[in-house]
Amino acid sequence: MKPVLKSMTPRTIDPLVRFRDRLSLPLIAAPMFLVSGVELVAAACRHGVIGAFPTVNCRSCDELDVWLTEIEGRLHTSSDALGKPAAPVCPNLIVHRSNARLSEDLQVVLRHGCEIVITSVGSPQPVVRPLHDSGALVFADVASVRHAERAIEAGSDGLVLLTAGAGGQTGWLNPFAFVRAVRAFFEGPIVLAGGVSDGRALRAAEVLGCDLAYMGTKFIATRESMADPRYKAMLVESSADDILLTSAFTGLQTNMLRPSIAAAGLDPDNLPPRGAIDIGKDIDVAAREQRPNRWRDIWSAGHSASGVTDVPMVADLIARTIGEPGKHGRPVNAPLTTPPRQSALEARARRRCGKVAGLDRWGWLMDFTTRFKKTPATLDEIRIRVTHALRRHPLCRDVQFDVVSTPRTARGRNWTVSLRSIESRGLWEASDIVGDIQDAYELSAVA
Ligand SMILES: Cc1cc2nc3c(=O)[nH]c(=O)nc-3n(C[C@H](O)[C@H](O)[C@H](O)COP(=O)(O)O)c2cc1C
Repeated sequence: MKPVLKSMTPRTIDPLVRFRDRLSLPLIAAPMFLVSGVELVAAACRHGVIGAFPTVNCRSCDELDVWLTEIEGRLHTSSDALGKPAAPVCPNLIVHRSNARLSEDLQVVLRHGCEIVITSVGSPQPVVRPLHDSGALVFADVASVRHAERAIEAGSDGLVLLTAGAGGQTGWLNPFAFVRAVRAFFEGPIVLAGGVSDGRALRAAEVLGCDLAYMGTKFIATRESMADPRYKAMLVESSADDILLTSAFTGLQTNMLRPSIAAAGLDPDNLPPRGAIDIGKDIDVAAREQRPNRWRDIWSAGHSASGVTDVPMVADLIARTIGEPGKHGRPVNAPLTTPPRQSALEARARRRCGKVAGLDRWGWLMDFTTRFKKTPATLDEIRIRVTHALRRHPLCRDVQFDVVSTPRTARGRNWTVSLRSIESRGLWEASDIVGDIQDAYELSAVA
């Protein structure tokens, strides 16, 4: 049976509102076993990207305490210097029953008052209540629609959708299909995980209906990551074709770098099957280090390996991602309300008119017609566009609204926004933003 639309979390229309203005990009530096450490997390947060790390990257809960204290100290100093608070630090709790340290790590995370926590490999249910009581948001990573429903039932504030091509233990669903399937019944924050390697892909994730995206593989190849330099170099040399999906190493479907398997003397196309899943061993840093070298040097990455061309500083990767789409189109944070482009036919007609002296005005008229042609959209699509556009304005981030269908007006409008709550300072800006979207989109006949 298809799930029905769940209401938003009662606390606020947008749970991310509390730290949205501290983000330079709608991005999380993904938690990665043996890769994300103090340097990477602190650099990401300092430059406006949520910095996530698996708590099991620390050898003990005492070390976790040390890491969090160190990261907080660095961010405190840098936000004092820059006058801008850093993006949140986001511990990742492995909630699988074989993680013997879960409850101790949870206590450390609670003591540090972390603002957001991501749960992996299981239901977030055991940790949701204490984390909510401490004021943290809980995002659960999920790989199927059923998992998504369960995570919402367990009280998750947001979902990380693991999709095909992600680095590490990957999802298998197509990102377009998965995001749209979950958006049909969940209005809270969605994070896309898998294949996001630049600003363009990040923008595509937003258009698809996501609030944030993970970037994992790209952050492996940064100077601050804990990855072996040979791993980083291999990523620079590799493309998506070098990624092998296999359960041979962890017992779960994992994307691995083929060249690293070959370098360990194994045939990537003839790997032995792996027995029972034992995540407990996989997440034990000390146990990993005792493995023979050839096993330690078999590395994971996602399809976005093609996007890794060098090993920059985290700050440079983030700056590049912010500017990237500018070369070809709009920057990542530009509004979604640009009118539709001219069709090829209209462009050709316009060129022809332009050649005849005195007919330039026809060209202008053609442009005028094109500009005011609206794009048909459903109520749901319009609501997502309005949400995104309002969120980009500092005075309109908290606006609560409904999109309602109305009889067509003389200006061709057939939908409007009914405001539920808005700060008075943001009223004019909000109506301008909504007006722009009304000029660009009309309710489609089927909506
Ligand atoms: C080396 C490696 C280790 C990972 N370890 C974890 C982990 O400990 N916890 C987790 O939730 N996800 C883990 N992941 C998955 C990432 O958080 C993320 O889902 C993935 O990297 C996103 O896809 P991308 O690499 O295409 O950006 C890991 C991924 C990689 C490549």
